[in-house]
Amino acid sequence: MTDTPWWQSATGYQIWPRSFCDTTGDGIGDIPGIISRLPHLADLGIGFVWLSPVYASPQRDMGYDISDYCDIAPEYGTLADMDRLISEARERGIRIVMDLVVNHTSDAHAWFRAAKASREAPEHDFYVWRDPGPDGGPPTDLQACFGGPAWTWAEEVGQYYLGYFSPHQPDLNWQNPALRRAIHDMMTWWYDRGIAGFRMDVISLIGKDVDAGVFEEGPDLHRFLSEMHEATAAGRDVLTIGESWSVSRETAPLYCGRGRRELDMVFQFNHITRQWHPEHGKWRPRPFDLVAFKEELFGWQEALADDGWNSLFLTNHDLPRQVSKYGDDGQWRVRSAKCLATVIHLMKGTPFVYQGEEIGMTNIRFERMDQFRDLETFGHHRAQTAAGVAEAEFVAGANVNGRDNSRTPVQWGPGPNAGFTTGTPWIEVNANHDLVNVETDRARPDGIVAHYRRLIALRRDREIVRHGRFEGALRDHPSVVAYARHLQGERLAVAGNLSGEWVTLDIPASVAVSGACLSHNAGPRTELSGRVTLAPWEAVAVLGRA
Ligand code: GLC
Repeated sequence: MTDTPWWQSATGYQIWPRSFCDTTGDGIGDIPGIISRLPHLADLGIGFVWLSPVYASPQRDMGYDISDYCDIAPEYGTLADMDRLISEARERGIRIVMDLVVNHTSDAHAWFRAAKASREAPEHDFYVWRDPGPDGGPPTDLQACFGGPAWTWAEEVGQYYLGYFSPHQPDLNWQNPALRRAIHDMMTWWYDRGIAGFRMDVISLIGKDVDAGVFEEGPDLHRFLSEMHEATAAGRDVLTIGESWSVSRETAPLYCGRGRRELDMVFQFNHITRQWHPEHGKWRPRPFDLVAFKEELFGWQEALADDGWNSLFLTNHDLPRQVSKYGDDGQWRVRSAKCLATVIHLMKGTPFVYQGEEIGMTNIRFERMDQFRDLETFGHHRAQTAAGVAEAEFVAGANVNGRDNSRTPVQWGPGPNAGFTTGTPWIEVNANHDLVNVETDRARPDGIVAHYRRLIALRRDREIVRHGRFEGALRDHPSVVAYARHLQGERLAVAGNLSGEWVTLDIPASVAVSGACLSHNAGPRTELSGRVTLAPWEAVAVLGRA
């Protein structure tokens, strides 16, 4: 295939700037820090960076509350720093994809200030306002994602506004054509500066019908996405990724199907949320169910086999560290980190590596609420303790699934503050940084970085990894992930033991192959067929003829 878009052979790397690398000593990561670490990304073979928000922001939701889309938060740097990041990354073959947070702004955005000051301001209709309910209270009892009511009273205009996430994140009114034009102009302004795409935050919310109570995947979503595509990305060689917590296997092709002219890929969470508690969500952890996990991962591979495109990931800035959640962050930390990477990276789609994942960074263990920093954790803490959940039980749940787990500073070396800052870090550095850090891992030829480097190269170099047909196997096996990729008489077989036990199993004929070992973490194998015994957390990939 000669017309393969670059993002189908590239691996992405997500940078959450606050915790990446600090060069000023204020304890907060910054853009010059990202530039200083570009050699690490280039060495891994990363094709593009998804940069979480660096825009001006009061940082109530760590940048997902933007007060100026065309400026940079001073603690992160300047527009000139951003331009330098774009060009220095490009020199190393790395493109920059920015975060687009347009379901809402910050309540400190000039639009919202004007909107809140007067009903007559043109910006008033950029947001979602409703009169009080019959009793003078909020129009509905809708709850915000981060806890508390979703409607907030604005005395100045005598109306309530919608903040679906929090009162500091007022929802934009996408029904207003002038608002949509303003967003398109802003996107074009960034494209013209040289960025290579956008990861679109909670994009499935923008078509909402508030009065009908339809928020996710509302009636106008696809009209707005195709209008946006025509106004911004059309004719440019850029990547658009739609984050959605509601997209299903059935609706995904509507976003990223060929010919839809909306988005290039979806970033969906069904394999993650399927593990959550049906009633208490992520705050009440449940034992990991590998069969359900495979049902989602394999099902999404099959649903987008011929049309649409998957993103491949287990963690990001909203999720716990994958080696703690799905692997073993004790005895088998290194091997299980490689095992998880192998089974994810060799599927069809575009893999995303979240900062620190490539050295097997782990969850942090907090004991007190004052160690946490995330507003979601605080909001749910208020709600759950009011509902009778014990403090210790809440902290235990937050330690398993809370967002701060992935937000502790990247561990660059064994020294003070893991080399992240010379000052006081804004959130604690994980105490295990003496062992778990980039410098130490890189010094090992069999380190986790080396394993990722190889997986990333396999995607770049091999058509079967990019486009081979996916075939899942052993769907009901409780601890092994096994699948094959097929392309023009070639077969790539992948097997991973997601447990700390030795496992003996029969490899089904549909997957069996002998040939060359492309990847392993516990000793090479040139054959995956017949009866096989896998070591704890062993993962292997073998390429041969079918
Ligand atoms: C997305 C972001 C998350 C943010 C939320 C609201 O899910 O990834 O970090 O809090 O949207 O913008």
